[in-house]
This record gives sequence, structure tokens and C-alpha cells, in this order.
Amino acid sequence: MTDQKFSATILVTGANGQLGNEIKILSKNFTGYRFLFTTKEELSIENTESVKAFFKNNHIDYCINCAAYTAVDRAESEKEKAFLINADAVGELAKNCNDNQVKLIHISTDYVYDGSRNEPLKESDSVGPVNAYGSSKLKGEQLALDQNPSTLIIRTSWVYSSFGNNFVKTMLRLFKEKEEINVINDQLGSPTYAADLAAVILLFIDRMQEGKSFSGIVNYSNDGVTTWYQFAEEIKALVHSNCKINPIPTSAYKTAAERPLYSVLDTSKIRELLDINIPSWKKSLKSCVEVLKAD
Ligand SMILES: NC(=O)c1ccc[n+]([C@@H]2O[C@H](COP(=O)([O-])OP(=O)(O)OC[C@H]3O[C@@H](n4cnc5c(N)ncnc54)[C@H](OP(=O)(O)O)[C@@H]3O)[C@@H](O)[C@H]2O)c1
Repeated sequence: MTDQKFSATILVTGANGQLGNEIKILSKNFTGYRFLFTTKEELSIENTESVKAFFKNNHIDYCINCAAYTAVDRAESEKEKAFLINADAVGELAKNCNDNQVKLIHISTDYVYDGSRNEPLKESDSVGPVNAYGSSKLKGEQLALDQNPSTLIIRTSWVYSSFGNNFVKTMLRLFKEKEEINVINDQLGSPTYAADLAAVILLFIDRMQEGKSFSGIVNYSNDGVTTWYQFAEEIKALVHSNCKINPIPTSAYKTAAERPLYSVLDTSKIRELLDINIPSWKKSLKSCVEVLKAD
């Protein structure tokens, strides 16, 4: 039983990543819930026996799975590892959630889409990952829903935060180190501030505590569309850098993993489900840069 002080217990796996850390910060405002934050070292989702024992030994109501293999390029040469963490382990986690009546909230990616469309991608649109990371995440979605049809999967895109490694922090570093950089200008997407995603996840839990029920796939990103180059220009403006940014095509920047050229998510479903407005990517970027400046 969850301690009477708390209305529910929430397990957060992969708590040392961008999203996990943002949930940790936000959890301080959610004193009605008991949070169990577990890092990879404390609870590896690959370790079937540990996961099973953890669910047996702790009364959990919700599991937010922030654990993932997120090295998109490295996944091309470490497919097995990517599938183990992003697919097989997610299936096992979903099974444990099902066996213990735990609501699983799992995070997926815009990279499940093939990038060939040119209008915002709905949850029901066809998928077709163009890289190993996307394939492993898609398999994870399928296994999660197979093992536990009540799983709520949130697909998100271009995630950044003041924690971990991400595009925003890389740009800030490069602006200090270089006078000139090249950034891709023909991939379209929507950045997502992990703090906003964290807030939406906890809002889902609040609504479920009120008796609402959510399952299946839902997309979430910040509002608006940009390219990596425009994203970099916006970061540059916020920190008044003099670094020169050259827009380049994808073809001029070779990476191990192919990226979808278009991965803008249609977020109308989540707006309707939760009756929310989503902050624009520029506004949220400004908030994150302010946090980073204060650090
Ligand atoms: N980052 C993006 O741009 C992006 C875009 C779309 C969707 N997503 C999805 O959003 C979710 C959150 O991403 P994020 O950016 O917060 O990722 P992140 O910063 O890379 O965090 C993932 C965390 O999971 C941990 N982890 C790895 N293997 C694990 C295991 N076997 N057991 C437990 N923990 C493990 C990692 O630890 P180590 O670092 O020590 O390995 C890391 O702390 C993921 O599902 C990701 O696929 C991310």
C-alpha cells in the first residue's frame, strides 16, 4: 500500500537523464505523490530479475520509463544493445507493470517516422524508421502495447534540457570554442524542452488520479517548426554570441545514422486530451537558456 500521506507512488526509471532530472525538479511541487527515482546503476531495466524484484518489493502505481539508449549514431554499430534497452527491456517492464497493475508511461520518438511527409505527423500516420535507434524505439512501442495494452506512450522530438548532453548545450560550447560552425538547415522538426514534457507527464498522472483514463500513443513537442540551423541561430541570439553559423544541407554532414528530413509532430491530440496550450519552442528555449546561464 502507498503510504497514506501519498495518493500514489511513481517510479521513474533512467532518472539520471534529461527527462528524469526534469521530473525530479518538478516532483518537489507534487508533494501528494511518493516518487521513487532510480538511475541505471540502481535499477537497470535490462536486468529482468531486478525489475521483477523491484516491482514485487515496492507498491507502485505509475512507472514513467525515462530509461533509454539514446545515442542515435552509435546505435548503428550497437544495434543489439539499442534493441535490448529500447525494445526487449521495455517489453519486460510493460509485462511487470501489467502483472502488478502499474500504469506505464513510456517515452518514444519522432524517429519512428520515415521523414518523407511534409505535414505534421499524427499518431495514426504510418511509421518507418530510417535508423537503428528509431527501429529499436518502434519495437519498444509495439512490445509495450503487446504486453500491456493500457500503456501510455508519448512520442517526442528534439529533446533538450539543462541536464545531460543535447543540441542546446553543444551549441553553447561551440559558440565559445569556434568562430564559425556549420549547422544543418534541411531537417524540419520541433524542439522539446524536457521540463515541459515532464510537466505534461505529471499532468497526465493528475488527470488519471481524478479518474480519467489514457492509453495508446500520443505526440508531444513544443509548438512551432524549425530547422537545426534556425534553432542554433535562436540560441546564438539568446546568448549574444558572435559565432558565425553557416546553414548546410544534410548531404554535407555525414553521420552514421540517417535522420528523417521531416519529423514535425502533430500535437492536436494531446492538446485536446489534456485541454492545454503548448509553449512555443522559442519561449521554452529562452527558459532553458536562462537556467543554463544561472548555473
Ligand atoms: N534526447 C532526445 O532528443 C529525444 C528525442 C525523442 C525522444 N526521446 C526519448 O525520450 C526519453 C528520454 O530521453 P532523454 O533525452 O532524457 O535521454 P537521456 O538523457 O539519454 O536519459 C536516458 C537515461 O537512461 C539511462 N539508461 C540507459 N540504459 C539504461 C538501463 N538499462 N536501465 C536504466 N536506465 C538506463 C541512461 O543512463 P546512461 O546515460 O548512464 O546510459 C540515462 O540516464 C527516451 O525514451 C528517449 O528515447 C529523446
